[in-house]
Amino acid sequence: MSAYPLGSGDVAVVTGGASGIGLRAVERFAQRGAKVAVVDLNPGAAQAALAAAGSTVYQYDVSDREALDAVFADISSTLGPPKVVFANAGIHAGAADPFTLDGDAIETMLNVNVKGVVWTIGAARPHTPPGGHIVVTASLSGAGPYTIDPLYSATKHAVVGFVRSLAPLLQSEGITLSAIAPGIVDTPLVGEDVVELLKSVNFDLLSTDDVIDALDVALTEAQPGACYISLPGMEPVPYRFRGLPGARVPLDDSSAPL
Ligand SMILES: NC(=O)c1ccc[n+]([C@@H]2O[C@H](COP(=O)([O-])OP(=O)(O)OC[C@H]3O[C@@H](n4cnc5c(N)ncnc54)[C@H](O)[C@@H]3O)[C@@H](O)[C@H]2O)c1
Repeated sequence: MSAYPLGSGDVAVVTGGASGIGLRAVERFAQRGAKVAVVDLNPGAAQAALAAAGSTVYQYDVSDREALDAVFADISSTLGPPKVVFANAGIHAGAADPFTLDGDAIETMLNVNVKGVVWTIGAARPHTPPGGHIVVTASLSGAGPYTIDPLYSATKHAVVGFVRSLAPLLQSEGITLSAIAPGIVDTPLVGEDVVELLKSVNFDLLSTDDVIDALDVALTEAQPGACYISLPGMEPVPYRFRGLPGARVPLDDSSAPL
């Protein structure tokens, strides 16, 4: 266990910071005195909230690699090197039957949810100092099946595997890479209709504050490769991945503290 890494004047970057979980992260980081840079495709509706949090807004697409490289270079030179990067931008496919989706829709999902995370980490890495953290928003659907949206689940499994596999390399550079995996959260991604429907059957939704509590635990515990499950009514806990039967190190991580 180490100390919470962000203090007054430190720099944090939040992708997808103009709505839902990301916006709440911006507000919570700002409350701690951090200088927050938001990278979002569509910051429009959140401009007032972002301005109130004193954040600097960059309107960019996380699936555009060159743009992201330029944004991180700009953030680093104008605000300072980021101590915390929250790679959070993501989208839903919104289809229980993924074969109803056309090629463009599938490509967009992979571009934003998988490439977007890969490029964000790649762009952040050269600017993140030793002692820095990169936390990715995966999902509970990245640790188990999610029949409501199988393609979304596939992208989140990809992200969890990427974080676990890349974490040791970044750890050797002093950067902690981890993930959070929330259940269903009351945000615009889920949509008002679905939120109302779930509430009407007493389904327990997470609030964005619950998810930021998990982010805080990830930042404080600083366990490379860990994936913190966030569910209503319980403390965030690192998911206990099972070892691979018969596999040898480095594939079998059953001895790792996860
Ligand atoms: N809401 C949930 O139930 C839930 C559960 C688990 C995980 N998540 C994950 O949490 C993250 C945040 O989701 P949310 O629920 O806050 O959604 P949201 O829709 O409220 O916010 C997502 C933000 O990401 C931005 N964004 C989308 N595509 C982008 C792109 N290509 N480049 C830059 N910004 C982009 C959007 O403009 C938006 O501001 C996502 O990765 C999502 O998959 C959400």
